[in-house]
Amino acid sequence: MEDKFEKLPQHSISWLKGRSTWYKNQGFWTLQKFHIGAIMAQQRFKVQPPSDTMLCSFPKSGTTWLKALSFAILTRHKFDESTTPLLTTFPHDFVPNLDVDLEKIEANGNNDSHDSSPLMFSSHLPYTCLPESIISSNCKIVYVYRNVKDVIVSHYHFLRELFKVPIEDAPFEEAFEEFCQGISAYGPYWEHILGFWKASLERPGTILFLKYEDLKRDPTTHVKALAEFLGNPFSDEEVGKGAVESIINLCSFERLKNLDVNKTGLRHNCERKSYFRKAKVGDWENYFTNEMKEKIDNIIHEKLSGVDLVLK
Ligand code: A3P
Repeated sequence: MEDKFEKLPQHSISWLKGRSTWYKNQGFWTLQKFHIGAIMAQQRFKVQPPSDTMLCSFPKSGTTWLKALSFAILTRHKFDESTTPLLTTFPHDFVPNLDVDLEKIEANGNNDSHDSSPLMFSSHLPYTCLPESIISSNCKIVYVYRNVKDVIVSHYHFLRELFKVPIEDAPFEEAFEEFCQGISAYGPYWEHILGFWKASLERPGTILFLKYEDLKRDPTTHVKALAEFLGNPFSDEEVGKGAVESIINLCSFERLKNLDVNKTGLRHNCERKSYFRKAKVGDWENYFTNEMKEKIDNIIHEKLSGVDLVLK
């Protein structure tokens, strides 16, 4: 399979000092190993409807948070705030990624040790690149998305840390330009969103869109909606006893970021702490010039004007 990559469009990420070459295959950019993981998942992964649920996202849009919330919602009758495995387990370990953890999924299922049901998997793949069994089964999908400008900043810092490039050696302007050319992990960003949006029209009721900024602004409403969609709604009694707030607090950025398990250790060569940076809405304002803002706004307007999601 490696020969195939020589013929594909490829790009050495300039601001990562040539430490990373990305390839475009099946319409999206990423590292060779993730493309190989995607192809394996497409060939082998079989969804188990109706129980399986997919958590999907463009990278840096709130995947870690969504995984923690979903796990906490589905296991709330089994664990309380002092016994939940969230205190001792990195959130990504509860919800394996199709194109990265396929062998683990095949060996163990989703989560043998915590027995969360229904099963959940995650993926950053564009909708049309998901394994055929996911598409044909109409399995439930939660898609978390985020303001593109904060995604660009988050993506920049995440990759910089992954490839150990100090901030003074990594010009943000170059990262921005590449992102605008569609060269980003699983990019282009706009095609990712567009794919899930179009799919939601074709399979109504099976894709829940959650916006990172909405979750931040009004977590109660959106955590309740997530629980309902996952088939595990909060009862009036639970709401009255503060069960929703307790899950929101448990999965809050401050709480998760400060847990030992999330401060130390690696996930696929990447430090777990890199998944918890600032979690600030509007951090882009510290990085963007007016020209950059105008440029990306124009791109989003041009590419996603037909999409009925609030993307600003
Ligand atoms: P920033 O880099 O802006 O801080 P992903 O999980 O898809 O990789 O996204 C990572 C982004 O989500 C990072 O954004 C990270 O700080 C933020 N994040 C991680 N955990 C969070 C949580 N519990 N609540 C809110 N944001 C969170």
